[in-house]
Amino acid sequence: MRVLLVSGASGIGRAIASAVLDSGGEVVLAGRRREPLDAATAELGPRASAVVIDLADGPSIAQAAVAVGPVDHVVSLTADHANGPVADLDGAAVRHAFDAKVIGPILLAKHFAPYLQGGGSFLFFSGVAAWKPALGLSVMATTNGAVAFLAEALAVELAPLRVNALSPGIVDSGAWDSMGSGKDTLFADTACANPVGRVGQPSDIAAAALSLLTNTFVTGVTLHVDGGGRLA
Ligand SMILES: NC(=O)c1ccc[n+]([C@@H]2O[C@H](COP(=O)([O-])OP(=O)(O)OC[C@H]3O[C@@H](n4cnc5c(N)ncnc54)[C@H](OP(=O)(O)O)[C@@H]3O)[C@@H](O)[C@H]2O)c1
Repeated sequence: MRVLLVSGASGIGRAIASAVLDSGGEVVLAGRRREPLDAATAELGPRASAVVIDLADGPSIAQAAVAVGPVDHVVSLTADHANGPVADLDGAAVRHAFDAKVIGPILLAKHFAPYLQGGGSFLFFSGVAAWKPALGLSVMATTNGAVAFLAEALAVELAPLRVNALSPGIVDSGAWDSMGSGKDTLFADTACANPVGRVGQPSDIAAAALSLLTNTFVTGVTLHVDGGGRLA
């Protein structure tokens, strides 16, 4: 299978890329910066290639669809953040957050659907923040929640192509490393609260993503891969 991974050069996306390659497939990594894409493809080997896509830039998505051509699956892991109290939110940052998780995926569906092979699918990344409202995370909750409804709507509109969403819980993807020692506290608290007693690893999410890509009877779902965190 040939899989386009938007934001696939690092974090959870990189783990999915490795899993696809391990299964004998081919990956096209996409992102808005050329350098990390080239570094990742060099490490992943000859069945990995790269294309520049900025999900806030519609023409870059249209151009990439033509350049990439036929694919079996399109996965978007892209996220941009506008965190903080509503009173302090910057409108442009909020729009970027919606570009990354909602408008960008809609444009991916628009431009890539004609290139998807039979049995193909889209997989968009949501997140546990949608099901656990918290102070300062209203935009994150809203964009991630929108992804779940987008998957349902597009599953109907684009059928027989399949469209699914995956909602991770807290995962040690590298995204939290800038927190310093705050990361250890967050992870310890999350592990304690999660029914499974630990935070997630990128490999947990990659295994679930592969299942959503390959099970041709699954469409319009949001799969929660969060260690039960949304229930805690
Ligand atoms: N890690 C977790 O604990 C967790 C929890 C819940 C949900 N999730 C979701 O799972 C997904 C993957 O998470 P992650 O932790 O592996 O990744 P991440 O660190 O959140 O990475 C997000 C990626 O999005 C890219 N990006 C932002 N705006 C973009 C744009 N306009 N166009 C193209 N790329 C753009 C960033 O690229 P740059 O490097 O160029 O900035 C970055 O590579 C995300 O959707 C995240 O919200 C993760």
